Amino acid sequence: MKHRIGSRRAVLLCAGLLLTLPGARPASADDAVLELRVHPSRPAPTLDRNVFGQFAEHLGTGIYGGVWVGKDSPIPNVRGIRSDVVNALRALHVPNVRWPGGCFGDEYHWRDGIGPAAHRRVTVNANWGGALDPNSFGTDEFMDFIDQIGSNAYVSVNVGSGTPAEAAAWMAYMTADPATSAGQERAANGHRAPYRVQFVGLGNESWGCGGAMTPDYYVSQMKLYARFVRNYNAAQTGSDAMRRVAVGADGAKTEYVEAVMKAWQEKVWSWDIEALSLHSYTSAGWPPAHPSEKFGEDEYALLLKDTLAMDGLIARHSAIMDRYDPQKKVALAVDEWGAWYAPLAGTNPGFLVQQNSLRDALLAALNLDIFARHADRVRMTNIAQMINVLQAMIMTDHEKMVLTPTYYIYRMYVPFQDARLVPVEFEAGRYSHGSITLPRVDAIAARDSHGTLWLALVNLDPDHPAHVHAIIDGAPPHSAQGQVLTAAAVDSVNTFTAPETVAPRALGATAGAHGLILDLPPKSVSVLQVQ
Ligand code: AHR
Repeated sequence: MKHRIGSRRAVLLCAGLLLTLPGARPASADDAVLELRVHPSRPAPTLDRNVFGQFAEHLGTGIYGGVWVGKDSPIPNVRGIRSDVVNALRALHVPNVRWPGGCFGDEYHWRDGIGPAAHRRVTVNANWGGALDPNSFGTDEFMDFIDQIGSNAYVSVNVGSGTPAEAAAWMAYMTADPATSAGQERAANGHRAPYRVQFVGLGNESWGCGGAMTPDYYVSQMKLYARFVRNYNAAQTGSDAMRRVAVGADGAKTEYVEAVMKAWQEKVWSWDIEALSLHSYTSAGWPPAHPSEKFGEDEYALLLKDTLAMDGLIARHSAIMDRYDPQKKVALAVDEWGAWYAPLAGTNPGFLVQQNSLRDALLAALNLDIFARHADRVRMTNIAQMINVLQAMIMTDHEKMVLTPTYYIYRMYVPFQDARLVPVEFEAGRYSHGSITLPRVDAIAARDSHGTLWLALVNLDPDHPAHVHAIIDGAPPHSAQGQVLTAAAVDSVNTFTAPETVAPRALGATAGAHGLILDLPPKSVSVLQVQ
């Protein structure tokens, strides 16, 4: 298997040596020492911090209950936004949050959610369980939330049931000078200065819930939105300019990718896009029917196999984009991805509530590693979704909050945000279960802005530790320190009563004659800083 920034290769291993050590178990495939070579002097792209983006839709309790509790709530909050969630998210350095949908976005009318409480309209969330949306959480509350967690706004405008004029007026409300009428309305609602909108999504799944548009019809609509939905914030110039994300691939389907990229190649001066989306969930079948809790190794291996298909999907769409855009000006934005399982028993199936287990932690790390290997094209992703929905970072129940195994992966990977990737080559080994064979180990490396070298390693094998010798070209390491995330079982979860069942603990490594000696526990993710 080839990697863009390195390749797995077979190496001769010192199994014979192991046999000579007192007490050593006979060498077997399970005991083999895997070699990882790290090449700090070879060129590689930067891993854009926006790859670690989040997605928060008006869906179930993703917003209401999960983020917004209202100013009068007994749950500690700042202007209605719950403080425990804000504090937890700040530790993730969330680069951007995509909002308000999802499918919800193509039925969202922004005027329903601005102004005094008495002006807010109560609407029906037709996509997600028919729940009533009080619109208490609207544009100004979202921007307050973004500010509180120290992130950036990725706003998805309504292409399906809205108009370019409505979307343009929304962008003016958010970004126009206070001297304009739109800016005055924003100021009257409490925010004089223009907001920053770093990304705008031009519709959502326009091939499906966003209107089932043919590719050509979408392209004609997309050009109007790309032209007229202007960001007026004078401070957003140069590299800070707002980026437009067009609707792209539905999983492996390529029609939208071809149509949008062809239009982009032939575009005239009056419109542009900076990114094209890809939506792909890990569900091993549709509709999602696999359990998110109380499963065994069959389900573990199956879902990890399914998630590794992300690599081929990105390669497929990138190859098409390369034909129209060899300079890679248009980014691939995987702005919906993650595990999607059967709804938890007793929950509203329209609320997409599922548990989050150690398996999801490995699944997240494997995808982040895949995105890193495609960092030249994949410059943004948004895991679905941030709180209480699908593969969440955080789960809440009224005043209670728990951090999921996936949350810890995002926290452990913070040093990789905007870090310069370092090419690696490694012997991945094999993990087999029934008819499924997967690589046993995955790895990426990067240097942060302080020059520190970081390694991230996944051991997929649920029964055997992986022994890895990491050899750093040109700079023999003397030690490494970091954290490892593992637990007793592949389906271990954190609950409100046992919140630390899957939590990171310290991991260190010392150097031997062959480099760093890393002992990766079964079913684990490790992130280490190399000295
Ligand atoms: O994330 C849940 C839904 O999945 C989103 O609303 C939609 O875009 C996708 O189909």
